[in-house]
Amino acid sequence: MSGQHPAVHRDPALPRSVTVYEVGARDGLQAESALVPSVAKIDFIRQLRAAGLPWVEATSFVSPRRVPQLADAAEVMAGLGGELSAHPVLVPNRRGLERARLSGARAVAVFVSATETFARRNLNAGRDESLEMARRVIEEASGAGMRVRGYVSMCFGDPWEGEVAIDDVVSVSRSLVDSGCAEISLGDTIGVGTAGHVTELIAAHGRAGIGPELLALHFHDTYGQALANAAAGLRSGVTCFDASAGGIGGCPFAGSATGNLATEDLLWMLSGLGIETGVDLDKVVAAGAMMTDLLGRPRSRVATAMLG
Ligand code: HMG
Ligand code: MG
Repeated sequence: MSGQHPAVHRDPALPRSVTVYEVGARDGLQAESALVPSVAKIDFIRQLRAAGLPWVEATSFVSPRRVPQLADAAEVMAGLGGELSAHPVLVPNRRGLERARLSGARAVAVFVSATETFARRNLNAGRDESLEMARRVIEEASGAGMRVRGYVSMCFGDPWEGEVAIDDVVSVSRSLVDSGCAEISLGDTIGVGTAGHVTELIAAHGRAGIGPELLALHFHDTYGQALANAAAGLRSGVTCFDASAGGIGGCPFAGSATGNLATEDLLWMLSGLGIETGVDLDKVVAAGAMMTDLLGRPRSRVATAMLG
């Protein structure tokens, strides 16, 4: 270890560089009972972008009645100014896409579930119906020159349905790829996945023609497995990982979802492996601590170690 960074020990079997996709301002804040002022959100997002994160998901254009925490989506986008191509936003339907376009968004993310129950709870539509809703959004957004990411939730287990068949996840991913998504983020919404499951899921996608270059991994850390699961994903060739500064996160429609993998914890591991991210760890630690302090939440493991 040198100062406040880990000593580097490379593993030639792992990718040389990785994209970290920051979700704190969206996944992190959507489940908080406290309403964070828009100016604090804008400051948080700006700090994360200034830390070198290439993608900082900003907010969601969903029903403000169902997710009041993100009802200020348009204000947040306006406050971010011109550089909006680095700030994807969640859109559930064409109404959300229209609101996102009016706000100047250049990249969007649709979200569907591998399971029927969560599709209904989260999107008020069955799994096939929500896939069709996503397809229409993807088509329209791509036609408008926007980059579209597709999230698949409940890939590793569902609190109502239990185990989730790998084939079900792959078929939902396939449908999103066929509809035109540039990237598929596989979500462990409730954090029950373990490393071998990650390896199997990625291999099954590969057999269906969806290679690791098309995938991102999105881990919630309920059972403390997120970092181990990210390491398994790296070993399978995935080079995009979702994470949330300060480890904040959850889903208001899946009670057992807790915080996301903390960006600073992920960066510490990647830095120790000599894997390039282009991201400044100290700046992410400062941004994450600012937000966890504001929310009255514990700091991430790395922020605690570095800042006390
Ligand atoms: P709906 O079918 O219209 O039904 O909405 P509703 O009763 O839920 O609608 C509520 C109200 O929202 C209605 O208006 C609609 O017109 C309106 P009201 O009658 O109250 O005046 N509405 C909208 N308003 C603004 N923007 C829109 C919009 N659409 C309808 N886009 C809908 C369906 C999907 C919109 C709704 O169910 C919803 O907003 N759900 C929220 C879903 C959500 O944000 N979930 C969390 C994000 S997903 C996640 O966290 C998982 C992820 O992190 C990956 C992982 O961890 O697995 C991505
Ligand atoms: Mg999530």
